[in-house]
Amino acid sequence: MAAADWGARRDPAAFIRANTTLESTVLVPELRLHQASTLVPLWEASEAELERQGVPPPYWAFAWAGGQALARYLLDNPGLVAGKRLLDFGAGSGLQGLAAKRAGAASVLAVDIDPIACAAIRLNAEANALAIQVSAEDWIGRDNPGWDVILAGDVCYEKPMAGRVEAWLRRLAGEGTLVLVGDPGRTYFPRQGMERITGYAVKTTREIEDTDLRNAVVWRLLPG
Ligand SMILES: C[S@@+](CC[C@H](N)C(=O)[O-])C[C@H]1O[C@@H](n2cnc3c(N)ncnc32)[C@H](O)[C@@H]1O
Repeated sequence: MAAADWGARRDPAAFIRANTTLESTVLVPELRLHQASTLVPLWEASEAELERQGVPPPYWAFAWAGGQALARYLLDNPGLVAGKRLLDFGAGSGLQGLAAKRAGAASVLAVDIDPIACAAIRLNAEANALAIQVSAEDWIGRDNPGWDVILAGDVCYEKPMAGRVEAWLRRLAGEGTLVLVGDPGRTYFPRQGMERITGYAVKTTREIEDTDLRNAVVWRLLPG
């Protein structure tokens, strides 16, 4: 793919449509996402090119194992989110937030500091005929404006971010917010102060995960 074809920042929606296919994952067949899993690894190709352009890696182009586990759990347990106000933190494709909305959430704010991820979330919401809000601001450390439930799918892959997120979410959990974390055993996942709810075997992409299957767990973050 020629570098001139990317244009990710100029027209994110066109970039996403041109480089992904709309498909479901095995674990969450109810929702379709713009994904790159069946293409020539967009990840490797784009990582180099996008870095050159100063654009973050395309996390949004894959449904990560932690997010898939959260989505499956919410679709199977709609009572947890029906009528509730949710935050989907580090939303990526927005899968877990879309699952919450499909399960009956009153509102979902999907936040991701990557503006291309935000464009992908909007496209994915449209593809599933679901309405959610999207924000590219960095919400870490802010007060809870009224969320009943917070979702964090697969956000413990980098040490500085994992530390900031844990401290923030533990504070909000201490104020009474239900915080659900989906994680497939990432290096910086804080095992202490977590209650295991359930786990799933998630089919993954070898180019991204070095394995075909990952065990992802849904945890409840206990108050700090
Ligand atoms: C591994 S992806 C997980 C995406 C999705 N939750 C899933 O499970 O498929 C992590 C995401 O966190 C986002 N992220 C990193 N730092 C963030 C921050 N401070 N605020 C919001 N999102 C952030 C990244 O841009 C990326 O899309």
